[in-house]
Parts: sequence; structure tokens; C-alpha cells
Amino acid sequence: MAWTVRSTQDVTYRVQQTDSIFDPGNSTLADVAGLQQRSRRLVVVDRNVDRLLGRAIRGYFTAWGHDHATFLVLEPNEAAKSSDALLSIAQAADRAGIKRRSEPIVAIGGGVVTDLAGLAASLYRRGTPFVRIPTTLIGLVDAAVGAKTAINFNGHKNRLGTYFPATHTLLDHSLLRTLPERHIRNGLAEIIKMAVMKDSTLFSLVEQDADQLVDRRFDTPLAQQVIERSVSGMLEELEPNLWEHDLKRLVDFGHTFSPVIEMRAEPQLLHGEAVSIDMALSCAIAHDRGILGREATMRVIGLLHRVGLPTWHPVCDLSQLCSGLEDSVRHRDGHQHLPVPTGIGRARFLEDVTPEDLGRATTLLADLALESAGR
Ligand SMILES: NC(=O)c1ccc[n+]([C@@H]2O[C@H](COP(=O)([O-])OP(=O)(O)OC[C@H]3O[C@@H](n4cnc5c(N)ncnc54)[C@H](O)[C@@H]3O)[C@@H](O)[C@H]2O)c1
Repeated sequence: MAWTVRSTQDVTYRVQQTDSIFDPGNSTLADVAGLQQRSRRLVVVDRNVDRLLGRAIRGYFTAWGHDHATFLVLEPNEAAKSSDALLSIAQAADRAGIKRRSEPIVAIGGGVVTDLAGLAASLYRRGTPFVRIPTTLIGLVDAAVGAKTAINFNGHKNRLGTYFPATHTLLDHSLLRTLPERHIRNGLAEIIKMAVMKDSTLFSLVEQDADQLVDRRFDTPLAQQVIERSVSGMLEELEPNLWEHDLKRLVDFGHTFSPVIEMRAEPQLLHGEAVSIDMALSCAIAHDRGILGREATMRVIGLLHRVGLPTWHPVCDLSQLCSGLEDSVRHRDGHQHLPVPTGIGRARFLEDVTPEDLGRATTLLADLALESAGR
């Protein structure tokens, strides 16, 4: 006897913009987290966000009748994105005594905290809803809008994880006001990624406003449009392929060599910085193949430099780049599926990049980067 069980799961989640999110007069968070019911609540907060906004956040919960919400403050660094932190969230969920369906966990912080809280939520009672409030630019345009959750494990980034989107994600870009400049640049890498792959208008907007976006922490007239176009582009790519059954993904631009670069670099590179190096190298590969023109190649490298992102790091020797490609081939189930631009806003995938191609591209990139710096 044999049985086949077939079942499908409908997934619906909302990503929504709001402003002054912790102003008690703004009911958006209360509505999506069901705070009108005087029930139990677990709120997981990034340590720096707690320092800067903890009073406002607690004031919000108190104003909506939750004087006794349980707050768990987490360290926001890659080393702390671990099983210990994961279990501490599960313990706090027990302590708070939250119900299985109607008392969502609320996660407030950068990608580290939202990835951690998301994984905990997906495991706690095999799935407890959660609400995400990203407070970094990477969070707003990337980490908190998709379905992936993770912790680092065994020396690998995001090795253990699940697909478990938050039921609601609230985006308030005024939270970026206190974000250190390096983290604004870091998030711009993911925005430039979307722009180069599929949105030439977004690319022009970032070119136009790059300095202001960094200096004024996205408090500029164009910032709203930049965020909206990035999130829309990202969700257009994710929605039809939420579980990544198709491993040819435009959103993997900049994510082929970067995991190895990010893990090996000393001093430490942020995620977006490693992505920036990978994007520059991928453009050089495409230029070397004759599928990306010189002007477009220089525009991408020039924009990365203008927002203060690196296009090179000493760790990028040929053997590391080859091992990065090999690891990505395993991750992409035996295929390179290397996304490269063929123009600003257009792309294709390469499947046959050789170590010789990589060697030539690194030399070419060094020349192009020098030329860009001299402009
Ligand atoms: N799930 C996904 O699809 C996805 C996508 C991209 C990245 N990620 C993950 O996200 C993580 C990177 O996220 P990140 O760049 O947000 O890093 P992060 O969470 O480490 O935050 C960066 C720093 O900014 C601080 N911070 C956060 N908000 C602040 C604010 N408003 N004001 C001042 N300081 C603030 C944090 O305390 C931290 O020191 C990585 O672990 C990466 O793997 C996940």
C-alpha cells in the first residue's frame, strides 16, 4: 500500500508604509498586531534601537493598553545571530505566554533581529505569526520584505533558516534618521542591485540623489520613490518564486561571490559592501564578454563609488573567487545562474564562467575602478 498526500498552502502577507509608527495616535501597528485586544505580547527589539527608541516603543504599547508586554532586547551583530539568541526568543515567548494564533510576536530592528525573530516565530509551536518593523535600510528594502528567516551556523552565513514571511511588515523610513552612515551606504547596495537588474528609472533616481540620500538619511523628496520602487521591484521578483523553486533569480545579482568575500574579509565587510564588490566584478565579467557596454559598466562602478561602496577587497584573489563561485553553484543546485547586466535595467544569466574569465575580469575591474576614481 502507498499513500500520496498532496496539499497546498496559500500564503498572503502585507508590506505597508506608514509614518511616525510609534506615535500612539498612529493605529497602524496596533491594528496589525491586534493590540486592541488586551492580550499578551512579546516584543523583540534590537539593542541599539532600544537605546534610541525604547521609551517611544514602550510608550506606544502602554498607550494601547499593554503595560505588561514582554520585551526581549537582542544584540544586533552577526556573531549573535545564533542558536543561543534563537532559543532565548522561544524562552521569552513561553514567559510571555502568548497564544498560538492571535498574539503575534513583534520584531523591531535590523536584518539580524528580524531574521532571528522570524526563525523563532516559524519554529515556535511550528508557526506563530509575527509582525516586522525594519529599522535599517537593508531591512526596509530587502531583509524584512521577503519570506526568508535564518541564523548563521557552523561558520556559514544563514545556513539554518526557513521560509516564513511576517503576516505584516511596516515600513517607516523616518526610522533611518539615527542609522549610522555606513549602514545607509550598505542598504544602497541592495537598491542599486534592483536598479541595475530591472529598473533604469530607479538607477537614475539614485544617481540624481545619491549624496543627499546618504547625508540626509533618506529624508529627501526623492527618498519615498526610491524605497517604493525598490520594494516593488523586489516583491515582483519574490512573489512568483517565494520558495525559490526557480534558482535563476535576478535578486541574486551581487550574491554569487559575496558570501565568501563577506565571511573572509578582515577587517569586516558589511553585507552590502561585499554585494557591491560582487556587482562590480559581475559587471566586469559582462563587459569582458562584450554583453555590457563600456558606458553602462562605468555608470554602475561610478555610482557604487559615489555612494561610498567598495568595488574591491584584498581577500578577492582568484582562488577565493573560484571557491565562492563553486559554493554558489552548489547553492544553485549545480548551475552557475550568474546574473549579469546587459544594460542598465536589463539582465541575463551566465552558465559558463571559467577561472580564466574571472582572472581577466579582476584585472579589468582594477583598471575600470582606477579610471572611475580619476573621473
Ligand atoms: N531575510 C532576508 O531575505 C535577508 C536579506 C538581506 C539581508 N539579510 C540579513 O540581514 C542582516 C543584515 O541586516 P542589517 O544590515 O539591517 O544589519 P543589523 O541588523 O546588524 O543592523 C545594523 C546596525 O544598525 C543598528 N541599527 C538598526 N536600526 C537602527 C536605527 N534605526 N538607528 C541606529 N542604529 C540602528 C543595529 O543595532 C546594528 O548595529 C544580515 O544578517 C543578513 O544576512 C536577510
